[in-house]
Amino acid sequence: MRHSNQAAVAALFVILAACSKGEEAKDDDTAAVKPAVAAAPTDPEKAAALAALPAPYNTGDLANGQSRFALCRSCHTITEGGPAMTGPNLWGIFGRQAGTSPGYAYSAAVKSAGFVWDAEHLDKWLADPRGFLPGTKMSFAGLKDPKDRIDLIAYLKVETGYKPAP
Ligand code: HEC
Repeated sequence: MRHSNQAAVAALFVILAACSKGEEAKDDDTAAVKPAVAAAPTDPEKAAALAALPAPYNTGDLANGQSRFALCRSCHTITEGGPAMTGPNLWGIFGRQAGTSPGYAYSAAVKSAGFVWDAEHLDKWLADPRGFLPGTKMSFAGLKDPKDRIDLIAYLKVETGYKPAP
């Protein structure tokens, strides 16, 4: 009896070890595209933040959102206190009045847009920036696939300090 219990426990450890190896291999695959941020939230924290988003963003694919963000990265930082580049820093973008990142020189189109950024505005903006706010100086053609926009918005919500209303 004792022996078979020990064997079962040993077998369990082998299975657990195999599982966690599998997990690591999966993490490594995406590690190359992860931004190297020191105090970034952990993956379980990100998964929880994702699950807490309103639909359809709670089903967003963060890995795809992250790869879509490669389209923005040359012009935008998303970390807290990150510098403006060609475009303004996007930390805290959700709930922020359009055109109000301190010290950034916006076009009149964005400065006078008169709305607060939320997922709906961002979706229209990312689909067609120049169609949505004519006169903007953001030279980005647009992200045409609606699912890509959902994934990117979910990624941005998780990465830019968005807190759902309690
Ligand atoms: C070629 C550079 C460039 C690329 C690529 C780019 N942006 Fe921009 N972005 C800008 C500029 C410049 C502005 C300021 C626009 C203005 O003032 O008219 C801006 C403004 C914004 C704003 C409004 C910020 C605010 O404070 O109101 C958001 C949101 C935004 N970009 C998101 C994105 C996302 C997400 C992507 C990737 C899909 C992206 N941008 C790609 C240059 C870029």
